[in-house]
Amino acid sequence: MGTTVSSFTRSSSGVDGLPSIDMALQQQKALLLPSKGAPFALGTRAIPKPRLGQVLIKIESAAINPCDYYIEQYGVLLDGYPGIAGNDGAGTVEVLGEGVTSLQKGDRVLFQCWYTIDRGTFQQYALADAPRAAKIPKTLSFDEASTIPSCVITAAIGLYAPVGARGGAALTPPWAPGGLGKYRNQPALVIGGSSSVGQFALQFLKLSGFSPIITTASTRNIEYVKAAGATHVIDYHTTPYPALPGAIAGITTQLVPVIYDAISSEDSQKAAWALLAPHGKLIVTLQPVVGKPGEEAEDGKRLVHVFGNVNDPDNVRFGDELFSVLTGLLESGAIKPNKVEVVEGGLAGLPKAVERVGKRDVSAVKLVAHPQETP
Ligand SMILES: NC(=O)c1ccc[n+]([C@@H]2O[C@H](COP(=O)([O-])OP(=O)(O)OC[C@H]3O[C@@H](n4cnc5c(N)ncnc54)[C@H](OP(=O)(O)O)[C@@H]3O)[C@@H](O)[C@H]2O)c1
Repeated sequence: MGTTVSSFTRSSSGVDGLPSIDMALQQQKALLLPSKGAPFALGTRAIPKPRLGQVLIKIESAAINPCDYYIEQYGVLLDGYPGIAGNDGAGTVEVLGEGVTSLQKGDRVLFQCWYTIDRGTFQQYALADAPRAAKIPKTLSFDEASTIPSCVITAAIGLYAPVGARGGAALTPPWAPGGLGKYRNQPALVIGGSSSVGQFALQFLKLSGFSPIITTASTRNIEYVKAAGATHVIDYHTTPYPALPGAIAGITTQLVPVIYDAISSEDSQKAAWALLAPHGKLIVTLQPVVGKPGEEAEDGKRLVHVFGNVNDPDNVRFGDELFSVLTGLLESGAIKPNKVEVVEGGLAGLPKAVERVGKRDVSAVKLVAHPQETP
């Protein structure tokens, strides 16, 4: 069966409760992007069938990222149209593809998309590669779990993936031998510590032992970023980025060897580059303005432009490593999920919520929708 845009067709039996064997023939509700640059439209499409090494996941919670706004507004990333956005999902394994032994039907998992129509999370069922679908500990809800994939991945790749054009800063990760606490007494800076990516960067830097860990955020989020690992918080409203080096000089006399810029504006990147120690690493999440990624500057400084997707061929190996330890990090509480705000209306509530996230009208929270509750 094909794709229907702007209408709902319900099979008489619905999609829930069908025997797995028939699922590939059934329809699901989906938030489609009918063509490049066109707005989101509710519709239906066939539930995909997992291929070798994949699983089909019934999505209970889909979290929103700024990237979903870029996909809709600028027509980036998707491999074709109609397409489906949605980078992050959490739900239940429904069908195992051939060769999958690491997961069972009924497992609760969190996962990240790839940019094909079957793998976006703004639909009721999506496919994921089994090695990069992590089991969710009992202590976490689907909503909490859905806040994790893209932002943990973007923080972790930036800090710990090998150096490369789309790699990372190659620090020893806290899950590797000798990595936990390895960088004690070295300062680190996170620009935008209350952003979803920034608060995971703070959590990882704390596990890595950095101290002090300085961050920028609004004053209302001081306690939030301190809980994530910040030791010092600078309000970027009262201390704009050109004044940041002066403010940091009052906290540490050392230049900073690792800076994670989760905001990556021109101002913030320039301030970060000025604060970076020789041979230090600056990680940016948007287009770099202060140097060329992957190339060493004269004083040994390096700029990392992170591509935070574990399903990118360049990141699959690191992604497999991260996903092999992720459940444990969540179970032990070493890494904690973001705060959640649930969007009403299931998939129908997403277009407005995506616009809010894209226009940065959120503060220290992740917006999450429930695809199964689509009217
Ligand atoms: N390259 C990649 O693969 C990749 C992956 C993920 C995200 N990103 C990018 O990374 C950025 C962050 O994404 P996100 O999902 O973490 O964003 P987010 O949580 O939606 O961002 C909202 C937060 O940004 C903070 N903020 C806004 N302007 C700020 C500034 N000038 N200085 C410090 N904090 C500021 C706000 O802090 P207060 O409320 O405290 O003011 C708020 O908590 C986005 O631009 C996104 O597109 C890139």
